Amino acid sequence: MKRFFKAALMAVTAALLALTSTAWGSEHDGVTEKEVSSAEGTPPEAPHSLTKGGELRNCLTCHEKGINGAPQTPHPERLTCTQCHGQGNITFDLDKPAGTPRKK
Ligand code: HEC
Ligand code: HEC
Repeated sequence: MKRFFKAALMAVTAALLALTSTAWGSEHDGVTEKEVSSAEGTPPEAPHSLTKGGELRNCLTCHEKGINGAPQTPHPERLTCTQCHGQGNITFDLDKPAGTPRKK
């Protein structure tokens, strides 16, 4: 009888865990938590400032097609870029005119 209770308790725990993890998969700004955790690898950090004059930059103007040396985004459908991509060490000044030698 004791054994049966143990098994029942484990089943209930498993069901609860499954429930909470589906709740975490809820929508947030069009990107689900599940999508965030299933994105392969660690998102690279931006080597440039993410904002200009206090406003978030429009990441896709450069990263959608990959203009002026910006790497093309492999996922233009993930719109909330800064949810995953943080600010790294700034080695690249986006506001310098093109052709300015890069600090490396
Ligand atoms: C004016 C164009 C421009 C805009 C706008 C821009 N970027 Fe970039 N981004 C670049 C360039 C150019 C590089 C490459 C810099 C280098 O090679 O040192 C880069 C590099 C990156 C990288 C590094 C990728 C890698 O493979 O290491 C990330 C991440 C990134 N940007 C994220 C963002 C995010 C997030 C935004 C919006 C908040 C944004 N960028 C807006 C031009 C831009
Ligand atoms: C859900 C998390 C997530 C969001 C949102 C997201 N990214 Fe990424 N990004 C990643 C991950 C993880 C990688 C590493 C490559 C991979 O494994 O997919 C990456 C890689 C990149 C790279 C590097 C590509 C290369 O070849 O070096 C660029 C550029 C980039 N993302 C730009 C963007 C831009 C711009 C946006 C918004 C329009 C964005 N990302 C939104 C997770 C995300």
